[in-house]
Amino acid sequence: MQFQKTIERIRHIGRSVLASKANENMRLTVTTLIGVLFGILIGVLFPIHSLSKLSLSSGLLTLSENIHIKNSSLPDQAKVQTNDTSEIWVPSNPRGAERLPPGFVVPQSDLYPRRLYGKPSEDLTVIPKYLVTFTVGYKQMPNIDAAIKKFSGNFTVLLFHYDNRTSDWDAYEWSKKAIHISVQKQTKWWFAKRFLHPDVVAAYDYIFVWDEDLGVEHFIAEEYIKLVKKHGLEISQPGLDPNRGFTWQMTRRRGDREVHKETEERPGWCPDPHLPPCAGFVEIMAPVFSREAWRCVWHMIQNDLVHGWGLDFAVRKCVEPAHEKIGVVDAQWIVHQGIPSLGGQGESNNGKPPWQGVRERCRSEWKIFQDRIDNAEKDYYKSLETSSST
Ligand SMILES: *[C@@H]1O[C@H](CO)[C@@H](O)[C@H](O)[C@H]1NC(C)=O
Ligand SMILES: *[C@@H]1O[C@H](CO)[C@@H](O)[C@H](O)[C@H]1NC(C)=O
Ligand SMILES: *[C@@H]1O[C@H](CO)[C@@H](O)[C@H](O)[C@H]1NC(C)=O
Ligand SMILES: *[C@@H]1O[C@H](CO)[C@@H](O)[C@H](O)[C@H]1NC(C)=O
Repeated sequence: MQFQKTIERIRHIGRSVLASKANENMRLTVTTLIGVLFGILIGVLFPIHSLSKLSLSSGLLTLSENIHIKNSSLPDQAKVQTNDTSEIWVPSNPRGAERLPPGFVVPQSDLYPRRLYGKPSEDLTVIPKYLVTFTVGYKQMPNIDAAIKKFSGNFTVLLFHYDNRTSDWDAYEWSKKAIHISVQKQTKWWFAKRFLHPDVVAAYDYIFVWDEDLGVEHFIAEEYIKLVKKHGLEISQPGLDPNRGFTWQMTRRRGDREVHKETEERPGWCPDPHLPPCAGFVEIMAPVFSREAWRCVWHMIQNDLVHGWGLDFAVRKCVEPAHEKIGVVDAQWIVHQGIPSLGGQGESNNGKPPWQGVRERCRSEWKIFQDRIDNAEKDYYKSLETSSST
């Protein structure tokens, strides 16, 4: 791109020189000079941007570079190269980018599709502030279609496909604007760790990381966001319809309020009423994270523990105080339909059905996750002791 920029600059200088009202002699001199300098340019550029680089770039880029070369007029390679960038060293830049001028560094990204033409500044007519992701298989198309209709144009839609059936979704108009990422037989948390890095989704105030089997008849995303903001929830989920089965009291929808942040469980389950599963707790099927909370939770996701079991008990470590900033939105609620699509895509083993192997892995991952976090905390506190005693 440096190459293209150089050419652009040169063209610009050339045009302004030619446009001036200089007399014909002057023009002739300038034109001659242009010719000479152009020759120098070609000589200087080609050793730098070797042929291997040109052939590496895509056909489109190579084409446009060629057009620029033919159309360029006044080269001035020397000017562009005056200040050697090796002299720049900015320790406060992101790690690895210290050699770049800070005003040029772009440490964060977004998921906004852009046009191939026109002014970049005019690409986006709406700037979505929220991100919703679903991890989906082809069989759940009608359900996801119904869900997407509950999310306004203020949302970027990102689908993670685990079954390699992406083009079928283009039957829906909204799908053409959505982002599709397809990797076979991977889970929601596997995708989230790889594709939702906090710096990549930094443009979004809230991030929905949802399963595909949720019924959204009583849910409107914009209304949900309003309640989340009103009640200061950094991590939340919609209440679950109590008539359709639920696992925890905490996530069961209450009919008489907007949100709740704590609950009572079965006797003996909550020695501390401010800790899970009585508070500071939502499930992993339909969580919604604020940008800040997600920055922490993303770091908590383990690369090898793909089912995410145990995360729900741990996310409270990311917000403070957890029993006030984690909660369930009752006024916008969902139905957990419990359709185990990806769960059925395991392998049969020793005569056991595929889902059973998946379920066993979920349980063992939960234990590994718990052990890891416990041990890491112990190590940390131990390291504090040693450093303070020396
Ligand atoms: C050269 O550039 C000018 C101005 O950018 C443009 O109008 C013209 O079409 C270009 N010519 C070629 C051959 O690309
Ligand atoms: C090159 O860098 C020096 C020191 O930062 C600065 O004084 C000078 O103006 C720069 N020259 C150009 C052409 O940018
Ligand atoms: C999108 O967000 C803006 C700003 O918060 C709001 O005014 C607008 O109503 C939202 N759009 C929809 C469809 O809710
Ligand atoms: C994915 O789907 C496409 C089109 O349906 C097919 O051509 C391709 O072979 C599939 N890839 C795998 C790895 O199954």
